[in-house]
Amino acid sequence: MEKSYRRRRLKLTRKTISSSEGDLEEGPSPSGGHSPVSDALSPGSDRETPALEVSGISKSFSQRGRGIPVLEQVSLTVKRQEFVSIVGPSGCGKSTLFHIIGGLVKPDAGTVRMNGAPVTGQRGSVSYMPQQPALFPWRSIEDNVILSRELRGAARSEVREEARRWIAKAGLGGFEKAYPHMLSGGMQQRAAFLRALLAPQELMLLDEPFSALDALTRSEMQRWLLELWEENRRSVLFITHSIEEALLLSSRIYVFSGRPGTILHTVDVPFPRPRREEMTENPEFLRLKRQLSGWMREEQAKSGALR
Ligand SMILES: Nc1ncnc2c1ncn2[C@@H]1O[C@H](COP(=O)(O)OP(=O)(O)OP(=O)(O)O)[C@@H](O)[C@H]1O
Ligand SMILES: [Mg+2]
Repeated sequence: MEKSYRRRRLKLTRKTISSSEGDLEEGPSPSGGHSPVSDALSPGSDRETPALEVSGISKSFSQRGRGIPVLEQVSLTVKRQEFVSIVGPSGCGKSTLFHIIGGLVKPDAGTVRMNGAPVTGQRGSVSYMPQQPALFPWRSIEDNVILSRELRGAARSEVREEARRWIAKAGLGGFEKAYPHMLSGGMQQRAAFLRALLAPQELMLLDEPFSALDALTRSEMQRWLLELWEENRRSVLFITHSIEEALLLSSRIYVFSGRPGTILHTVDVPFPRPRREEMTENPEFLRLKRQLSGWMREEQAKSGALR
């Protein structure tokens, strides 16, 4: 059974396309590109070992000589092939947590493990789409999309055709040779999303990937992501401010408090897959949405009172 699982994973990882890497903005990985994908296939690993385990992460930043606690004792898990979301008030440390997982920021306390291996402070282990689409201005859209594959040694010509197919699917056909400044914010966001999707790492961190999109495009992208994920499961940790989006896409949602961010609630989303948009009319969906919205309102009110 284990053997066939590994064979399936190999197929999945070969088929999978993906995009930006956590260290793209800050230079190449000092580890030379540690790959959780290869860890997933290593002899010691098994299906039960989570793709990501964050344990007891705390972080303070110094601002004007004062230490401001941003994250406090955050522990969470993403199992293999699981889609997990984080929701929480603005400024509660969600993006900071992604920077810590991606190895861009060192925590004051706590550890990050991927596929069972400690990777705290190590870069290059995740496919990461930052909150601000960080496209390289001197590269065309197509060359931005294939960058993470290229960094892993693929020839441009090899991945170009695949990239073009994805660019067309994301509604960016005709913009392959355009440069980022020629695209709207929402189009840049879709290109950055494709780059993350095409990256070879198994764990994807998506930081509000659809926030700059109009409602219709956002719902199209959600549907697209849902289909893609159902057909070709990656392990995903997803930050969103949209409770409906989190409920539609995730198997589990972590609800963060206001700053310093701690986990207030963990919600298991009970709906079977494949999921479709109609599910948003289901009474249980509406009940969960009301409950989560209530928690978020409370936290937002407390955060507002702190400012
Ligand atoms: N490098 C840094 N130096 C100092 N303070 C920082 C740094 N990075 C983040 N912060 C502070 O940490 C807090 C959390 O920021 P973060 O970007 O993680 O929040 P967030 O939950 O992602 O918010 P949003 O939902 O608005 O994106 C903020 O108060 C921010 O000012
Ligand atoms: Mg953020």
